[in-house]
Amino acid sequence: MRKFTLLALALVLPALHLLNGQNTPDKLAPYYPTPQLVVDKMLQLGGLKAGETMFDLGSGDGRIVIMAAQKYKAKGIGVEYDESLATQSEARIKTLGLSNTARIIHGDLLAQNYESADLITVYLLPVGNGLVTPILDKQLKKGARVVAHDFEFSAWKPTRTLDIDDDGEGRSHRLYLYQR
Ligand SMILES: C[S@@+](CC[C@H](N)C(=O)[O-])C[C@H]1O[C@@H](n2cnc3c(N)ncnc32)[C@H](O)[C@@H]1O
Repeated sequence: MRKFTLLALALVLPALHLLNGQNTPDKLAPYYPTPQLVVDKMLQLGGLKAGETMFDLGSGDGRIVIMAAQKYKAKGIGVEYDESLATQSEARIKTLGLSNTARIIHGDLLAQNYESADLITVYLLPVGNGLVTPILDKQLKKGARVVAHDFEFSAWKPTRTLDIDDDGEGRSHRLYLYQR
């Protein structure tokens, strides 16, 4: 059901993209949070190490950035254009005392600079991955990794894929690792 809903949106969103005004960021995926078990697997698969910098593109409630800072001792940066999600996740970061190592940029993920990234995580629809591909191709440094949840980057060949058969709620997931 989850994949059906996301795939239906994958068909509709490119049409919305054409209708979109100049000042509104493209909606590259609806808000659909990654289960915590899968968040952990994404960061493990991406080989995130203490002190490294990671970005979550479309960070939702900030859960990936928060786990990156809290458990992996990395510097986590989320980019989220939905104002309420950005405010809520920034408040949670503050409450958890993680403001030194985690933050949220309230803005369009297609308009940021990712040159400092060691790891990028994404849970975007295929159209979103397609739009972000040339940006990452241009900006990512050698050795940087990208982990995509459920939807691959069609222009790139994954170094590894990981299937998660049960996320604790009976749903399956596939992760894709790409390395520069
Ligand atoms: C499927 S959710 C993933 C949330 C989070 N990364 C996770 O895995 O739990 C996708 C998120 O991308 C955000 N988003 C979509 N288009 C965006 C854009 N152009 N710029 C910034 N955020 C965007 C949505 O608001 C949503 O929160």
